[in-house]
Amino acid sequence: MSAIECLLSTQCKKAGDVALCHGHCYAYLKLHGESGTGGLWGQTGISVAYRQVTAHTLPFQSDNPEAFRMVTTYCRNVLHQVGEGVGLYLYSVPNAINPKGTGTGKTTAAVVILHEYLVARIIQHVKQIKPIIQLPTLFINASKFQNRFNAQFRGPREMQEKASVAFYQCKSDMLQAELLVLDDVGVREATEAYKNEFYEVIDERCTERKATIFTSNEPLERLGKLLDPRIASRIEGMAIPISFEGEDQRTKQMR
Ligand SMILES: Nc1ncnc2c1ncn2[C@@H]1O[C@H](COP(=O)(O)OP(=O)(O)OP(=O)(O)O)[C@@H](O)[C@H]1O
Ligand SMILES: [Mg+2]
Repeated sequence: MSAIECLLSTQCKKAGDVALCHGHCYAYLKLHGESGTGGLWGQTGISVAYRQVTAHTLPFQSDNPEAFRMVTTYCRNVLHQVGEGVGLYLYSVPNAINPKGTGTGKTTAAVVILHEYLVARIIQHVKQIKPIIQLPTLFINASKFQNRFNAQFRGPREMQEKASVAFYQCKSDMLQAELLVLDDVGVREATEAYKNEFYEVIDERCTERKATIFTSNEPLERLGKLLDPRIASRIEGMAIPISFEGEDQRTKQMR
């Protein structure tokens, strides 16, 4: 890693050179902002816990070699894959020691792809190949999106109105993002009204051939029952399924 923590460091000739690699670098500021957690990265919505994950540090090569191969292949060609609207459905296969299939690296993989794309777009921007006009990529936790939807119907009217503006802004950002990560899809029961909003996002991204990376603890067959068969069928059409298995590495780290 360079003197400053920068996602561009693996691709930047100036990385590690103290005279050139510093917090005033244009590309660094564009990507990370002055605080290091701002800039375009700060607007993606990724949790700080995942801020440094990159294709070089993917942790599941030995536990999930096929997932590793597919994710690294996607990353190597990320501009092309996103441009072609290729999506991925990263899901876990439960087993006796990990009945919910948690902590197997799905969110890490999705963030790595998002980081690779953001870095590739920053390079295009700096080289004036394709300027960044709007946020290229967005990370949305499906439960939080559902909470935003529900907030429109809770509390005093003024709060509901603000929540409604925030929800529709978020939905519009999700439709526009060149690459969208939808994390933890299908974990909660949902109302028909919410399913319709969610369906609209998926349907429009599917129709517009916009790349979406999903993570879920449910295989696609179950998603149809949990959410809606119309949603599951579109996800199936727009995303390549990649399964993850093994122990819960999150709880293992804490032991
Ligand atoms: N095979 C692995 N070996 C070592 N560490 C791993 C492995 N897979 C994931 N991890 C680590 O486990 C933690 C949890 O990973 P992550 O959040 O990506 O899991 P997840 O599959 O999204 O979990 P969940 O289903 O709960 O959302 C992270 O710190 C990650 O680096
Ligand atoms: Mg996850």
